Amino acid sequence: MKKIIGLIAWLVVVCLCAQNEVNYNESKVPAYILPDLLEGNNGEKITSIEQWEKQRRPELLELFASQVYGQTPDAKIDVTYELLTEDPNVMDGKATGKQVKFTFSNGNKKIEAILLMYIPNKPTGKVPVFVGYNFKGNHSTTLDTTILYSPVFQLVKEPDHPDWERGIQSNRWCYDKIIDRGYAVATMCYHDIFPDKPELKDHSIISLFPGYPETIAPGEWQAIGAWAWGSSRIVDFLETQEKIDSDKIAIMGHSRQGKAALWAGARDERFRIVISNDSGCGGAALFRRKFGETIAVINKNFPHWFCENFRQYNDRDEMLPVDQHQLIALIAPRKVYVASAEEDLWADPRGEFLSAYHAGPVYRLYGLTAIDSDKIPQLHKPIMEDIGYHIRAGEHDVTEYDWECYLDFADKHFKN
Ligand code: GCU
Repeated sequence: MKKIIGLIAWLVVVCLCAQNEVNYNESKVPAYILPDLLEGNNGEKITSIEQWEKQRRPELLELFASQVYGQTPDAKIDVTYELLTEDPNVMDGKATGKQVKFTFSNGNKKIEAILLMYIPNKPTGKVPVFVGYNFKGNHSTTLDTTILYSPVFQLVKEPDHPDWERGIQSNRWCYDKIIDRGYAVATMCYHDIFPDKPELKDHSIISLFPGYPETIAPGEWQAIGAWAWGSSRIVDFLETQEKIDSDKIAIMGHSRQGKAALWAGARDERFRIVISNDSGCGGAALFRRKFGETIAVINKNFPHWFCENFRQYNDRDEMLPVDQHQLIALIAPRKVYVASAEEDLWADPRGEFLSAYHAGPVYRLYGLTAIDSDKIPQLHKPIMEDIGYHIRAGEHDVTEYDWECYLDFADKHFKN
């Protein structure tokens, strides 16, 4: 009897370990069938733009909201803007720098955030703009000592944490290059919108919405939904800015912010270009490949990112009614760009590429160009159709090379 119990215990341990083992071996990717992009929930084939826009697109948006990212409430939260600083002469006079305080309020409670913007001085007319969150505060994106610290930063980082240092992620924000190419850039610390720790939800904008915290429903939004919502609020502000061409707004998100950028881009059509940099699981990568990070792993490590319903698919990735090629297709006919890094296996570069590839049928429905081959391109050979893709050498990061590709892609679609 003891032996049998011992054997069962051993089997349970082996099974649990096998479930949590990360697969980095292409030959172990299971055979999978992707959910059909162009077949409605009722089994009907989608053959026209009208059917896509009226039937299939709303169905997919609803599935992503109810099963993955959570529903974004319809309630409107009051937002006011206060110009904190304006310097018409930054970067040797080639740009204007602005810092703007956003105050989100429901009448009882307020949350504050700071947007940092650089606008090129040379162009006389309106300019296109890149919007994107930073991870370590606006102060981490440049050495400029006039940049203010985010109000929430003291909540997420201890006083002696190295992230208080200025400029530590300036490599991810090549402002000079962006300005020289004639683009404005607007960034905010993502912690301002939802401080990235499950126990800090009370300090997130979610806490301002009616019903919080009583109604934590299984399909309710969490951090990724909140970050996506916040980037739309940045667009609201940019639309008030005379120098900004609000028909030419691109969003760029790295990693967890790549996930949020795709979700924001799927929901908000004011983003005309959507860029996912190394976004991985829950971003551009196909769940069904189960390569690198999986649903079970991401839900365990980041329980505050996705809606509760998403946990039903832990170790059952293939049961999710959607996959990420459908999220990318929701951006059509607007332009989308997916980027990977060769050594970033955790994010499954091939899975990121394949979802960009499999989004093609919807782009083709619009008469647009998509990715022709399911063979991943060579390093540093970007594809620049209406869907773009590149894989570069190196690790999980945002590099100058990535930005060069995004600027080329934006030139192609915004400047012609
Ligand atoms: C972790 C997480 C990823 C995420 C990444 C990041 O590695 O597992 O899903 O993309 O952090 O945001 O840098």
